[in-house]
Amino acid sequence: MSASGKRPAWVRPLMAWYARTARDLPWRRTRDPYAIWVAEIMLQQTQVETVKPYYTRFIERFGSVEVLARARLDTVLKLWEGLGYYARARHLHAAARHLCRHHAGRLPDTIEALRSLPGVGRYTAGAIASIAFGRDEPVLDGNVMRVLCRLYAIEQDPKSADCQERLWALAAAALPPGCAGTFNQAMMDLGARTCLPRRPLCPDCPVRRHCRALAESRVDQLPVRRAARPLPRHIIAVGIVWKDGRVLIDRRRPEGMLGGLWEFPGGKKRPDETLQEAVAREVYEEVRIRVEVGRKRITVDHAYSHFRIRLYAYDCRYVSGRVRPCGCTATRWVRPDRLGTYAFPGANQRIIESILTEPGPRDT
Ligand code: ADE
Repeated sequence: MSASGKRPAWVRPLMAWYARTARDLPWRRTRDPYAIWVAEIMLQQTQVETVKPYYTRFIERFGSVEVLARARLDTVLKLWEGLGYYARARHLHAAARHLCRHHAGRLPDTIEALRSLPGVGRYTAGAIASIAFGRDEPVLDGNVMRVLCRLYAIEQDPKSADCQERLWALAAAALPPGCAGTFNQAMMDLGARTCLPRRPLCPDCPVRRHCRALAESRVDQLPVRRAARPLPRHIIAVGIVWKDGRVLIDRRRPEGMLGGLWEFPGGKKRPDETLQEAVAREVYEEVRIRVEVGRKRITVDHAYSHFRIRLYAYDCRYVSGRVRPCGCTATRWVRPDRLGTYAFPGANQRIIESILTEPGPRDT
């Protein structure tokens, strides 16, 4: 609460607005902590509309911590395919196994214990503790930050450590006891639907009378934004290696970006080599075979959170050597019509489509 011990005046109209207008979202129809945990992990870097179908499929397929713990990581990644940030799926799966082994499959209900689970940070722990267990814990995500920065006309960089502490304290001070889960979701909804980053809908805002940024006509200047740095671009050379009508794929190591997903062998082009040389080198380094690099099949541009790639995929003919995984954890020769059963990163989907519409030469 505020220094005077009173909850801020904007909390009541916010709660009344939420009671009238809360979005009907699939994870709001359950009190099952497991389902709420799954939703909060999916929502970490992804918008509500994108998450909905993934959440529904995930809960249908893995209905409990036990079912998730028993599943193979490959199956979980396949369901996650296209949602991005695959470490979230690996963490969820690892945490489910840990909970089954050590905690009878039950999710803990304290912030500290929740935060010890892989993939659960301060925000997600607050969301689960408040929404699933009714604890008086705040949350702070991008939406909540924007709402608070405007309500209080905060001029600091919201990402700075100082400002973060200030915002967590403001979020905690506003919590109505016993209703933290509802309050937190009301803040998320306000940020997602009304207090928009650009062109916020101030006339519709239930707390407009309390908003300092609005009173001072500074809504479009707050929160302050750091100048965005252009994302670096990497050039990736990829081999579509054909043998007897099948193509070669390999599985990335479990850790790191896109860990555990399948891909076509390839990697970053070096400045001193051609794309074709990069394909042959990367294929050899990854799976220890020699190939003849043929025609370029497709160029794909793809943006990840911190960099962009331009990916050049070349059809290749297998020449010699026995496939051995090296820098990857498994390899398979796969018929094109079976590629869909493996989980691939987003940038590979266009390659797969291209292979399905125009397979490689059968005799190579
Ligand atoms: N974003 C993160 N958690 C959410 C939730 N529970 N409801 C809506 N949006 C969210």
